[in-house]
Amino acid sequence: NKGKYEHYMQKEIHEQPESLTTTMRGRLIRRGSCKSKTVLLGGLKDHFKTIRRSRRILFIGCGTSYNAALAARPILEELSGLPVTMEIASDLLDRQGPIYREDTAVFVSQSGETADTLQALDYALENGALCVGITNTVGSAIARNTHCGVHINAGCEIGVASTKAYTSQIVAMAMLALAIGGDTISNQARRDAIIDGLYDLPNKVREVLKLDQEMKDLAQLLIAEQSLLVFGRGYNYATALEGALKVKEVALMHSEGILAGEMKHGPLALVDENLPIVVIATRDSCFSKQQSVIQQLHARKGRLIVMCSQGDAASVSLGGSCRVIEVPLVEDCLQPVVNIVPLQLLAYHLTVLRGFNVDQPRNLAKSVTTQ
Ligand code: UD1
Ligand code: F6R
Repeated sequence: NKGKYEHYMQKEIHEQPESLTTTMRGRLIRRGSCKSKTVLLGGLKDHFKTIRRSRRILFIGCGTSYNAALAARPILEELSGLPVTMEIASDLLDRQGPIYREDTAVFVSQSGETADTLQALDYALENGALCVGITNTVGSAIARNTHCGVHINAGCEIGVASTKAYTSQIVAMAMLALAIGGDTISNQARRDAIIDGLYDLPNKVREVLKLDQEMKDLAQLLIAEQSLLVFGRGYNYATALEGALKVKEVALMHSEGILAGEMKHGPLALVDENLPIVVIATRDSCFSKQQSVIQQLHARKGRLIVMCSQGDAASVSLGGSCRVIEVPLVEDCLQPVVNIVPLQLLAYHLTVLRGFNVDQPRNLAKSVTTQ
């Protein structure tokens, strides 16, 4: 049932304040008179000791689920102190990459049925790793075959392009990072800030959804383009990959997410006055580096669309010469949840304006159960 919406993708983008709320329901706890804050993940409580003792954590997934894991990687590294490595399921299988008993392998999948991810799970089980699932589908093959896990509880996702599952996966993995990190005095202020940020996140997403019309106007400008680049780094490298994936898969426009730190190692050659480029430059520890990326792209006459934090338009638009998308500022590790929303809206409107099927992009299936 699409309710007041024309397409499932549109409905699922707009229901993210609610889906994020259900992902967190019962899992964020404020305890006692001192109001100490903590995270409770029922499915993992008997496994944290093993996870903390592991030698590394591997994230394994495909497509959007891989991108969500990439967004959560920095906070998991920071709070757990463990090395976190990323694996696209098919590539792990192609290489038969080494996995050990001392590893914790985290399988991220909306459907819980993706063939590559499932086969990678069998492979990790054979090699003796502790296998953890992050899934949206109770009773799915990945939920059943992992040792333990977290249901993201985002509700059924029907649009082939994953939207609300992506943001709920990031939130579930941020909670995973908080839970693995445990309560130490040294990181208490950081943890409290993230937990407060999680409580407020649905409101911030509601706020960023107000950019709908602005994104429709932008889509109108980009309707006839051949290609769109998206530059990000740090927490928002994942936003660049995921924004580009949405544009590619539904609007059927070539789009590439690029790690901004790699700009000079090739992509800069593509820049001219015609190719539209989105640069994600919200406030975090990478901000000044992104400012310098903007300057360098501008010096090559790049057609820039800059995503920045509210109030920062003047610091990024180089005297008003580039288009700006202002988004609410949240805790750095949660910023990818806010930043993807305008790009989801852009992909949606581009698709409708270009006359393509939003909910069933050509050649794609919701759940990829064959290799
Ligand atoms: C569980 C209940 C929830 C209830 C809550 C009350 C289920 C599915 N969830 O949620 O309805 O409100 O207790 O305390 O009944 N698991 C895996 N792999 C996965 C995902 C999950 O093995 O990929 C396992 C978990 O380890 C856990 C079980 O499935 O044993 C349920 O996981 P989850 O729904 O995340 O647990 P709770 O949040 O505790
Ligand atoms: C993109 C998309 C796909 C899936 C991928 C993995 O919007 O939906 O890239 O993310 O096929 O699917 P799951 O998460 O079900 O394993």
